[in-house]
Amino acid sequence: MDLDAFRWLLTDDGQQLLSEASPADGAGPDDELALQADLRKRATAAQVATALTQVELRRRAEPKFGELAARMYFTHAGLEQATRLPVAKHRAGRLQAAVTTSLIDLGCGIGGDLIASAAAGITTAGVDLDPVRVAVAEANLAALDLPGAVAVADATTVDTSPFDTAFADPARRSGRGRTFSPDGWTPPWSFVEDLLLARPSCVKVAPGIPHDLVPDGVEAEWVSDHGEVKEACLWSGRLRTTVRRATVIGRGGLATITDEDAPSPGEDGAGVRPVGDYLYEPDGAVVRAGLVTAVAAGVEGGLLDEHIAYVVSDRSFRTPFARGYRVVEELPYREKQLKAALRERGVGTLTIKKRGVSVSPDALRQRLGLRGDVTATLVLTRAAGHGTALLVEPF
Ligand SMILES: C[S@@+](CC[C@H](N)C(=O)[O-])C[C@H]1O[C@@H](n2cnc3c(N)ncnc32)[C@H](O)[C@@H]1O
Repeated sequence: MDLDAFRWLLTDDGQQLLSEASPADGAGPDDELALQADLRKRATAAQVATALTQVELRRRAEPKFGELAARMYFTHAGLEQATRLPVAKHRAGRLQAAVTTSLIDLGCGIGGDLIASAAAGITTAGVDLDPVRVAVAEANLAALDLPGAVAVADATTVDTSPFDTAFADPARRSGRGRTFSPDGWTPPWSFVEDLLLARPSCVKVAPGIPHDLVPDGVEAEWVSDHGEVKEACLWSGRLRTTVRRATVIGRGGLATITDEDAPSPGEDGAGVRPVGDYLYEPDGAVVRAGLVTAVAAGVEGGLLDEHIAYVVSDRSFRTPFARGYRVVEELPYREKQLKAALRERGVGTLTIKKRGVSVSPDALRQRLGLRGDVTATLVLTRAAGHGTALLVEPF
């Protein structure tokens, strides 16, 4: 979509066409063709295409933006790169709690983070190199009735001093796909590092960021949404509250755990221990943050192996930081005996979970030739250096 096409979409004629461009619920391909033909009576092919694309992008944006998606505007790449609303809201909530009154978003894209900070009552401004995204971000603020200013500018040359907080979410995609090296981000890692060290800043980064890349004195927070790790976020200056943090957002709300919840080396608890009655599979944000021992301490348990992210305990707890299982029994790890044990128990449908062992669950399931009506979950891992198979039942 070019800038002129998007500007046209915001005119009265464009808005009228957009409002008519949604296919009815349950519409089939023929209905869509009929809709297009009808719209073409009132607008050019390019205008119709712009409106239909926007309708389609709004539909695709629903998982990220919920009911707001129907009022917002997107570009394909801008939507893909945008922060999902629950995660952006959490960040804005933290900024608000740290008494942020004004924020400059250095690469605001279509405004996923921008709208969350504006909605949190923070005076918000955004810049981006891409004029279409700037126009879309501006339109999103207006569509959601939020204050804020947006401009086309190079983030690396913007004077951030009038704002008490700077935020950046560098683009990690190039024309050739996702860029894993932080030096390939735009703006690059050198800019991010200088920003974090120079002033209170918050920077969204890839969840795979190595811990040793995080500058001293900067907090790293890993965030998951409904079990999927979405991002890491670095917090500097007055915004930093700890060294490492894992925040999990789920159906029940939000929960957060930090390195202060983990036992110190040498302290009792959360060491390596044998299998217990319960097994816990920590959330990906906890694993990435290196806070598995904090979860182990929370469930009064320990690790099966110091390098594997499974926690075992004799106590059953409900925790937002891990999925819990009751250990039904230990089965033989050797494939032939395992196959016989599963046959004996009538297991026909098997979920295989594994950590720390090189097994392909799909290939193993095939080889096990399962038969029976019982549905079961099998955990394959290592304990005390040995392969271990545990039949478990989710809480
Ligand atoms: C990952 S996106 C930001 C997404 C945004 N946080 C959201 O939730 O919608 C990164 C943005 O940075 C912009 N960008 C990259 N380098 C820039 C620079 N030097 N100055 C300004 N913007 C830049 C890109 O155009 C892109 O829109």
